[in-house]
Amino acid sequence: MLARDIVELILEKRSHQPQPNSAKAFAPTNIALIKYWGKRDAVLNLPRTDSLSISLAHKGTTTSLEITQSNQDEFWLNNELQPTDSAFSQRLTEFINLFRFNNEHYKIQSESNIPLAAGLASSAAGFASLIKAFNALYAWELDSAQLSILARLGSGSACRSIHNGFVWWQKGLLADGMDSYAVPLESTWNELCVGLLIFDKKPKAIGSREAMQRTVKTSYLFENWPQQVAHDLSAIHEAILTHDFKRLGEISEHNALSMHATMLSAWPPIVYSNIETLQAMNKIWELRKQGLNLYFTQDAGPNLKLLFLKQDHAAVLENFPGLEVVEVFSSQQA
Ligand code: PMV
Repeated sequence: MLARDIVELILEKRSHQPQPNSAKAFAPTNIALIKYWGKRDAVLNLPRTDSLSISLAHKGTTTSLEITQSNQDEFWLNNELQPTDSAFSQRLTEFINLFRFNNEHYKIQSESNIPLAAGLASSAAGFASLIKAFNALYAWELDSAQLSILARLGSGSACRSIHNGFVWWQKGLLADGMDSYAVPLESTWNELCVGLLIFDKKPKAIGSREAMQRTVKTSYLFENWPQQVAHDLSAIHEAILTHDFKRLGEISEHNALSMHATMLSAWPPIVYSNIETLQAMNKIWELRKQGLNLYFTQDAGPNLKLLFLKQDHAAVLENFPGLEVVEVFSSQQA
């Protein structure tokens, strides 16, 4: 099945005439606590397992979309026009091609308040905000499951950025992936904080798409990954429901390190951590020994995301000055 078939299925009876001239939408980035790693369908970005994330409230991407009279697309990222032959433009063009109904061309301007492509799931917020902008431009009035499915066609983790708070992506069983979308959990947790510990803003050397494929193909450890995810999901769900922070932190950190273990055991190996990553991990473990309730998670990049509670904000900042802290259930979320 092709991505275009899914778009046609979802937009079957919807308008292909733009309503306003332009539309704008925001989507938060999301950080997976239980990771999505490995696909069962690389064309439709269908995952091998469920995953669970937390959306970072006001940290994300705002995308504005308009139809241009020009005969080519224009992509702007943080006020910079992107060269048409860049990896960014090519990936976006592939996605936009799914939404060319009368051979129209689009001007897309994205502004992100998170470092791009540094393993901070910026593509997730990008694709999610773009699909919300399409929905507004054509007045499709899609429901959140449909938005989530369309965002997934751009980037798997984007399907979770449709929602705020804790989000669960159900892997689904159908070959067309119509049951593979994200749903929000009702639980909130006002004290929960995520700190962005950024050492490296450079784009990653190897993208998650390729890294996943290589892991699935060559890592023997990956065979056990779905089993661990199933266990971690039910444990973290319980931790969220009971506000058991220690358990949430332990499961998240263990899950992230296990995902990286599958990459280390791929061939050629994939190593996203650098010296600073390892130093920060050791510091976190040392602080924990001293009684600070601080955990981390790590995605496809060297940077870490710290997990802690509001009551420890000052102590965490003391040890990691300049840390960017997001209170994930802050008022901006409403
Ligand atoms: O959606 P992608 O292709 O950018 O992959 C995301 C992979 C991880 O960030 C490492 C894990 C996750 O669940 O977000």
